[in-house]
Amino acid sequence: MNFQGQNSTDAFHGKSQSKAMQSLYKDSVPLFAQIIRNNLKPSKYTLVDFGGHKGELVSELLSALPEYEFDSTIIDKGEGMEAGVNAKKIVGDIINNSLPDKSADLVLLRYVLPWDAYENQKLILNEVKRVCKTIAIIQHQGAPSDNPKPLQEASLRLWSGLVPTLKRDHGYFTEATKIEKWMQELGMNFEKVEEKYVETLSEMFTEKFHLNAQEAAATKDILKGCDGISITTWIIHA
Ligand SMILES: C[S@@+](CC[C@H](N)C(=O)[O-])C[C@H]1O[C@@H](n2cnc3c(N)ncnc32)[C@H](O)[C@@H]1O
Repeated sequence: MNFQGQNSTDAFHGKSQSKAMQSLYKDSVPLFAQIIRNNLKPSKYTLVDFGGHKGELVSELLSALPEYEFDSTIIDKGEGMEAGVNAKKIVGDIINNSLPDKSADLVLLRYVLPWDAYENQKLILNEVKRVCKTIAIIQHQGAPSDNPKPLQEASLRLWSGLVPTLKRDHGYFTEATKIEKWMQELGMNFEKVEEKYVETLSEMFTEKFHLNAQEAAATKDILKGCDGISITTWIIHA
């Protein structure tokens, strides 16, 4: 089971109650829009959103960038697509996707890596590199690079079933410095655009997965001392 949570669609649109969730999702749309405006002049482009869920990010970006036209494709393991999103959906694994090399002017990867197995994360980065023709934007949720172990260990305990609603088969909050090491090894030309630390990861879990009071308290307890997440955004130049 690798459920994204009962309130995931609202969360991915940026419609959240908690400041932590807004900081994660709502704030990334103006940042992505600015990066796109700085790097691509208004025109028609191909866009691939890897791990794009039901199209929430694409839908928000299309609204934020009315001067652009995108031929958009979403690849996600999960089925379903929101009504009215102007994009094609391919249900499948990013790692085995059949898109040709350099087939997307713009590739997006927002908060996908930590929700797959640790050993798959570099393979996903390699697909970003392979498919990207011009630029990619990677936004990542990870344990703080200066002290990653506490959150990495606590989150594995959360997902092991101690909080039943959060039980999942895989996932790992790899720290940003490790992601950068992998990108270097893959020969990716990356530039860090933003790095911030968002407090109260427990609030994010509580809201996104609609935890009851007992599960919310257990989550807070397990995350005690490491209840926050580092958000890093990179632009990749092909
Ligand atoms: C936290 S959600 C983020 C959704 C979306 N990118 C956003 O920011 O709104 C992570 C998504 O990545 C997808 N995912 C993770 N690993 C994947 C893989 N190897 N292939 C396809 N989808 C994957 C999950 O199914 C899930 O929909």
